[in-house]
Amino acid sequence: MPQQVRGVVARAKGQPVSIETIVIPDPGPGEAVVAIQACGVCHTDLHYREGGINDDFPFLLGHEAAGVVEAVGPGVTDVAPGDFVILNWRAVCGQCRSCLKGKPQYCFATHNATQKMTLTDGTVLSPALGIGAFCDKTLVATGQCTKVNPAARPEAAGLLGCGVMAGLGAAMNTGNVGRGDTVAVFGCGGVGDAAIAGARLAGASVIIAVDLDDRKLEWAKGFGATHTVNGGREDAVERIRELTGGNGVDVAIEAIGLPQTYEQAFYARDLAGTVVLVGVPNPTMKVELPFIEIFGRGGALKSSWYGDCLPSRDFPMLIDLYLQGRLNLDDFVSETIGLDAVEEAFHKMERGEVLRSVVVL
Ligand SMILES: NC(=O)c1ccc[n+]([C@@H]2O[C@H](COP(=O)([O-])OP(=O)(O)OC[C@H]3O[C@@H](n4cnc5c(N)ncnc54)[C@H](O)[C@@H]3O)[C@@H](O)[C@H]2O)c1
Ligand SMILES: [Zn+2]
Ligand SMILES: [Zn+2]
Repeated sequence: MPQQVRGVVARAKGQPVSIETIVIPDPGPGEAVVAIQACGVCHTDLHYREGGINDDFPFLLGHEAAGVVEAVGPGVTDVAPGDFVILNWRAVCGQCRSCLKGKPQYCFATHNATQKMTLTDGTVLSPALGIGAFCDKTLVATGQCTKVNPAARPEAAGLLGCGVMAGLGAAMNTGNVGRGDTVAVFGCGGVGDAAIAGARLAGASVIIAVDLDDRKLEWAKGFGATHTVNGGREDAVERIRELTGGNGVDVAIEAIGLPQTYEQAFYARDLAGTVVLVGVPNPTMKVELPFIEIFGRGGALKSSWYGDCLPSRDFPMLIDLYLQGRLNLDDFVSETIGLDAVEEAFHKMERGEVLRSVVVL
């Protein structure tokens, strides 16, 4: 029997979100229904609401979530009712050219549920990032459910489902930060602070946080920044060079999505260093760099989708580190809210008041 639950829906571009009744089909083959316990409010949800991702309104928002599997479809063996899972947007196919090359973290054909969730009048919903988790329950592909130790708090665990994983992975996977490396992170929101935490876990000796907001810089220290630079008051590139013996950093991570901070990251990097772009640009932005500098400085310019994570490898490992007290996920949770406060949480995000507001159900 299809079920009816509450969900947060963006009906049209730029309009405030509303709580609607959502119809969830019974899970079919390869699908699971998950009862959501917690779901973080990510900048990407706001991008959807503003029409910045695509025009497939109405969207069922929310995609940074943890919960418990309630039911699975016929023949499903990889997850079972009662499993505590983090939802991911990288359910790898195992068959595309990247998976076949042994690089499933770049899978080009990831899975989502086949059936659709709808409004009560039959209107098909587009779930954000193929998840849609600002709701009591959601329908996903079983590969989107990653089992982790149920001792973890859902509101902390769920954050690995998107932004925190993107930041941690930007440092640990894409940037390949190693022991003794110097690192700069531009933008100290949830994603940037996670990159700072990832750099610390990986053994970086110098971690320089750059933001325009002193409060954000203060929080960044808590995640492992050894130095902070207010890019509004100081020349970030010069200051980073000063702090690294005149050389620049081994790994410069851009976690905002702006051309000017990308250029700063480019120039703040040592010879043969790596720039990682994890912030998401909008489609109109352009970067202009002297071609000879791109060649002359050597190294690598990389982009990081979802921190190049492989959920089955990374989520259980990171939850174990969290439970051992070696990775602080709790401090990313600025507040817990109800489903009815998502719109207000967007405004708090825009005003820079929170790292993450987390909906708890
Ligand atoms: N690559 C991925 O897979 C992935 C996943 C999730 C989010 N993201 C993206 O990462 C970015 C950051 O997300 P977030 O949730 O941390 O956002 P956020 O808005 O919480 O944080 C952005 C931070 O950048 C700072 N900032 C803004 N302009 C600046 C400037 N000119 N110089 C220095 N600092 C500046 C802000 O003060 C803020 O602290 C967004 O673009 C988001 O869409 C990417
Ligand atoms: Zn694949
Ligand atoms: Zn997200």
